[in-house]
Amino acid sequence: MERLDKIISSRTGLSRKEAKAAVSGGKVTVNGNIIRSSEYKVGENDEIFLGCNKISEKAHLYIVLHKPKGYVSATEDPTQKTVLELVPEELMRSGLFPAGRLDKDTTGLMIITDDGDFAHRILSPKKHVSKKYAVTIDLPVTDAMEKGFAEGIELNDGICKTAKLEKTGEYTCFVTLSEGRYHQIKRMFGCFGAKVTELHRLSMGGFFLPDDLPEGECRELTEEEVALIESKVKE
Ligand code: URA
Repeated sequence: MERLDKIISSRTGLSRKEAKAAVSGGKVTVNGNIIRSSEYKVGENDEIFLGCNKISEKAHLYIVLHKPKGYVSATEDPTQKTVLELVPEELMRSGLFPAGRLDKDTTGLMIITDDGDFAHRILSPKKHVSKKYAVTIDLPVTDAMEKGFAEGIELNDGICKTAKLEKTGEYTCFVTLSEGRYHQIKRMFGCFGAKVTELHRLSMGGFFLPDDLPEGECRELTEEEVALIESKVKE
């Protein structure tokens, strides 16, 4: 059961304040009765109307987070701060989890959702949803690294799928992966004796971290943006 104003806000895009005003203004009915208290608790099967419009159940929620350093990609942790703590109250609902892991010291694009099938699709190596990272290492980026990444680096848990390395500076490059193993980029550069000093995820599939989303902030994705994540991109 959730508060009426919270349900209205999460399903319509109205702010919590606007939802409260609609309720106290007598514009909301639950199962045919006008309810003026925002604290009124509603369940999944209750029929809610805002004016003449039925507020339908939003099946799933998709959130983009600009992950800062210092947060672990988990729903709970006994000692460390989690990315879920960055989800604002108006977007928070039960069942949310980070779709994929970024290391504690990695920044950038993170998707948080309650849609397990979607998460599986965008993370499964078979679906080839590419993930592009901006990387800084402590040694110059070499042609051997680029060639090794393209051929498939052998790690202790098997050969990596082919990855694209694009040099952007002496110590910087973009790396595009189509899988996401534990510490993958750090371990791939480790094969060349190099240490990753900065790692930032720029995109997943055809969706890029929005320029106007400050570090540490979240917002709900539009349907078009969700579709972009799964869209095939030409590498
Ligand atoms: N590769 C890593 O090593 N770390 C990340 O957080 C993501 C990819």
